[in-house]
This record gives sequence, structure tokens and C-alpha cells, in this order.
Amino acid sequence: MFNAETITNVANAAYVVAALLFILALAGLSKHETSKAGNAFGMAGMGVALVATIVLAINKQIEPLGLALLIGAMAVGAAIGLWRAKVVEMTGMPELIALLHSFVGLAAVLVGWSGYLHAEFDPNSQGALELAKEGMLGIHSAEVFIGVFIGAVTFTGSIVANLKLSAKIKSAPLMLPGKNFLNVGSLVVFIALTVWFCISPNLWLLVGVTVLALLLGWHLVASIGGGDMPVVVSMLNSYSGWAAAASGFLLSNDLLIITGALVGSSGAYLSYIMCKAMNRSFISVIAGGFGIEAGPAEDKDYGEHREITAEGAAEMLASASSVIITPGYGMAVAQAQYGVADLTRKLRDKGVNVRFGIHPVAGRLPGHMNVLLAEAKVPYDIVLEMDEINDDFDDTDVVLVIGANDTVNPAASEDPGSPIAGMPVLTVWNANNVIVFKRSMASGYAGVQNPLFFRDNSQMLFGDARDRVNDILAAL
Ligand code: TAP
Repeated sequence: MFNAETITNVANAAYVVAALLFILALAGLSKHETSKAGNAFGMAGMGVALVATIVLAINKQIEPLGLALLIGAMAVGAAIGLWRAKVVEMTGMPELIALLHSFVGLAAVLVGWSGYLHAEFDPNSQGALELAKEGMLGIHSAEVFIGVFIGAVTFTGSIVANLKLSAKIKSAPLMLPGKNFLNVGSLVVFIALTVWFCISPNLWLLVGVTVLALLLGWHLVASIGGGDMPVVVSMLNSYSGWAAAASGFLLSNDLLIITGALVGSSGAYLSYIMCKAMNRSFISVIAGGFGIEAGPAEDKDYGEHREITAEGAAEMLASASSVIITPGYGMAVAQAQYGVADLTRKLRDKGVNVRFGIHPVAGRLPGHMNVLLAEAKVPYDIVLEMDEINDDFDDTDVVLVIGANDTVNPAASEDPGSPIAGMPVLTVWNANNVIVFKRSMASGYAGVQNPLFFRDNSQMLFGDARDRVNDILAAL
């Protein structure tokens, strides 16, 4: 009924629809209120894209084994994806995302290698002769080489990010001697090898660039310190997009090119926003911590810290007229947001002015705290961004630091030698009283000690944040 050309046209039209759905997904995901619709658009787009891909493959008379492998791979991938998404904790999302980026990188490497075996490997093969006849062999070689390079950097970079985010390796930056030279030198070698490969494609050049890119990806991310990891995750997101786009060029798949470019550019823009929020140089972070030197080893004596009980904290809160809560990663771990929402309600009922101060990288995901607080039904209008609330700490009676550490560390603004120096932080120490909820005196994600804990107006409330918040609620 339909001839092959009509089917190809319909499938290509479906690709355009999928691309539009992906654009709607990105637009939806940029706002809290529309994020669910954004997810739905993304899923619909991917569904359309997968069906169109199968139809195109059948139309090109794929062999039964190939078709079975294609459908089997999709089914296995979907099953694993559904299972992981169901069991993952919110705090484990960044490491899962980093792992998913590594798959995109690996796929780009495999597509690049398959492109090489299809054409350049044997100059007399049908693929090579066809490309040569169209005068496209040089361009094909460049696509293979660049795709393999970006893919391999993304692959190992994302694996290191996954290991750092899941605390399987230390988050401190790796400081190899001449690390900047290693990064820039690798890029120069890559450019030289690309030119060589385009002129005379050969297997060893491709092996060489694969190994070089795998090592570079590892080194780039290993050189970045814990505090800068949010930027790394969005940067790898961007790299994975470019890797997908490179595969799209090789496979002549327009949808992959469009989707890759969308992911690549939105990831790059997110990295830029994060860098601005953290007062980091964009170039420095995407070049693997270029120019960031490690601070001196910490052996400073900060003095003694003071402790407070939940009853003492409740008493202080009962007599306060203004309270700011600054949540961090520990609130997510303890799942304390519901107790925090109850506490907020109780204090507001007593006439206390309660607001929240949210640092742009608090927790482990962009918007992590906002999502948790929204889940616990804390009103949006009392949840303020760092810039909106930082001047108000001077007039605040009590600040509750609930499981936050790096994002309230005065060393960032006061100690130029600190690894987090220059990162804007919530200036909680300007309030009259600060109560810090955490389980021990351990440092935060960046591995830097926090002088806030030893200030005269600070008191530690040790224990799991959820238990302590419930104790305060009971005492109130
Ligand atoms: P962190 O600096 O990570 O500190 C969290 C604190 O919570 C820890 O000091 C920990 O101390 C405490 N804690 C853990 N479990 C707890 C529990 N059950 N009850 C009470 N306290 C608990 O937190 P932050 O201020 O939110 O800073 C975020 C850090 O993560 C930044 O360095 C940021 O760069 C990095 N990061 C952020 C992102 C994004 S996009 N947001 C992504 C990757 C990395 P104890 O162990 O003593 O309890």
C-alpha cells in the first residue's frame, strides 16, 4: 500500500514531530509548575522517535537478526531504565545522571568505530568507494574522529563524576604536576591527529585518539574539586549532547543531530549559569579546573564549638520574631522536609516571620531544595533565592542551618586560600543566633572545614535532622 519512499517521508516527518516535542520538553522543564508536562512531552518525543527508527530500519530491509537485536536492545534498555528510575533516591539522581551520560559517550565511541570499519578501514569497500565518489570521505573521517574523541571524553569523565558523586572516590581535585599542560597539550595533539587522520585514515590513529580521549576525560573531571561538581555534571550533560550530535552526522540521522544540539547547548548554558552563581570562570571549569590551585592543607585550630539541645532550640524559636531556614544536602538525606514544613507552619501560626534561603547549589541537584520544600507544601512565596535573602540575615533572630555546610561556609568569602574561595554563600553568621543541624563535626561535600560552627553566635544541634526537628516540634 505504501511504497518505500512514502514510508521514509512519514518517518522523517515523525522525527520532526519528535524534535518539536523535545523542544517543548525543555521549555516545560524550565519551570516548576510546567515540569510534569515537560517530562510528558519528552517521553512522548522519545516514543515517537523509537517507533520511527524501527519503521525506518524495516523499510531499509534490515535482516531479521538485526531487527531482533534492535527491538531486544530497546526492551532491555527500557526495563533497566524503568527499574533504576523507580528505585533511585532523590539524593542519588546526580550520580545516576552521570552514569547515563557515560552511556551516551560510549555509544558515540562505538558509532564512530563502526563508521570507520564501514568505510575507512578498507579503502576498496563499498562504503569507502561510495563516499569517495561523492567526495565525502574526508568529511566522514573527520566525523568519525571527532565523534570518537567527544564520546570517549564524555565516557570516562562521566564515570569519574559518578564515582565522585557516589563517594566511591575522593571528591578532592587530583593535582598532577603540569595538569594544565596535560589538558591543553591533549587538545593540541587531538587537532594534529584529526588533520592526519583526514588526510590518511589509519587504524592506529583511531586507537591513539580513543586512548588519548579516555585519559583526558578521566583527568578533566578528576582535576575538578568537590565544590565544582554541579558544574561538571551539567558540563558532561553538554558533552553528551555533542557526542550524540556527532553520531547523528555519522549516521545521517537528523533527529540525533537536533537532539544532540539541544542537549549540548542547553547543558552548556546551564553550566554557564551555574558558574555565574558560583563565581567560577566558565572556561576554567570546562577546561578541567584550569588555573584552580588547591588550597593549603588544613590544620587550623578553630577553637571550641558550643552545643544546644532541641528543647533549648525550641525555647529560642518561641521567643524569636524572625527566623530563616537554610536547608542543604543533610535535609534531603534525613528526609526532614515534612517536619521542617510542620515547624514552619507552627512558627508562622505564632506570628513568627519564617522564610527560607536557598543556595543555587544546595543539595546535589539544581533546584533540589525547592523540589523537597514544594513536596512538603511549603508556600513558594517564603522560599527565597540566596541573592534575595542575603541582606536580611543582619535583622534575623535565629537561622536554622538544616544539613547545609559548604553553602553556609564563611571561608568562601573570608579565606582566599580556601578551595571554595570566591563561591557566594548564604551569610547566615550575620544573624543573632545560628543553630546548625548535623550529625557530627564532619566537613561538607567540598571537604573543607567550616569556621561557622565555631563562631560565638553558633550552636550545634547534633543528630539526624528529621529526629531533631521532630524533637523541637514536640518541645514547642
Ligand atoms: P554539604 O556541604 O554537602 O553538607 C551537607 C551536610 O549535611 C554535611 O556536613 C552532613 O554533616 C550533614 N548531614 C548529612 N546527613 C545528615 C542527616 N541525616 N541529618 C543531619 N545532617 C546531615 O551540603 P550543602 O551545603 O547543601 O552543599 C552542597 C554541596 O554539594 C556543595 O559543595 C555543592 O557544590 C555540591 N554539589 C552540589 C550539586 C548541586 S547541583 N546542587 C551537585 C553536586 C555537588 P554530618 O555528616 O556531620 O551529618
